[in-house]
Amino acid sequence: MSTKYIIGNWKLNPATTEQAVDLATALRDIAPFDDCQLGVTPSLLQFASVHDVLGESKIWVGVQNVSHLTAQTGAYTGDVSAAQIADAGADFVIIGHSERRAYFGEDAAILTQKLSHCQKAGLPVVYCIGETQEQYDDAKTLSVLDEQLSILADIGFVEGQLLVAYEPVWAIGTGRTPTVDEVEQVHQHIKKTLQASSLTAPVLYGGSVNATNAEQFGASKWVDGALVGGASLDAQSFVQIATAFAK
Ligand code: PGA
Repeated sequence: MSTKYIIGNWKLNPATTEQAVDLATALRDIAPFDDCQLGVTPSLLQFASVHDVLGESKIWVGVQNVSHLTAQTGAYTGDVSAAQIADAGADFVIIGHSERRAYFGEDAAILTQKLSHCQKAGLPVVYCIGETQEQYDDAKTLSVLDEQLSILADIGFVEGQLLVAYEPVWAIGTGRTPTVDEVEQVHQHIKKTLQASSLTAPVLYGGSVNATNAEQFGASKWVDGALVGGASLDAQSFVQIATAFAK
């Protein structure tokens, strides 16, 4: 069986470093999943403490953001660069999440810079794509995804440096998901599109994945894993999701 990837996106949670360490500790103490790569993505402020807990484990620790302005250092108040993130020992960076696109105005130009900085720093990327409710209703999903994927073509990612997460915006945090059939069709399309640019990447599904619905997505050969928001804040739910995919 090919490796499945279950990545927790903690977003701006939890409130304290102590809670983040408790969550990381609960995850560290579970048996490793041989065919399932787990990862968590704490906030930057809590990254070092979480990394201290998980650094020696098999669980990846990533970050949720990276500067588009420089790959190294510079006069960019408040930003953190790909080189600093790599130096801190991060295993990956999430780029293109719909919340960053919507609330922080991250467009194709900005995302291209971020992807390129991470590629040069040797930092693996979880690149998120997905259509809005309106685009879904208008049957524009595939063309929206093609446009979002098009910026990957010239970055030069090698195998192992790129994961793609298909996250319909309307499914994030809503409790609603597409059917497995819909996800499979989209994932097949994504894989074909990547191939046309000589890229190979696992394709994860994200959007209201939980302990109850994980089984149906986990059973699909077209779903290489999950990007999990809300349910990743509970160690037990997160482990149940991983168990469903590891079967
Ligand atoms: P959700 O979030 O699992 O809470 O829907 C997923 C995400 O935003 O990555």
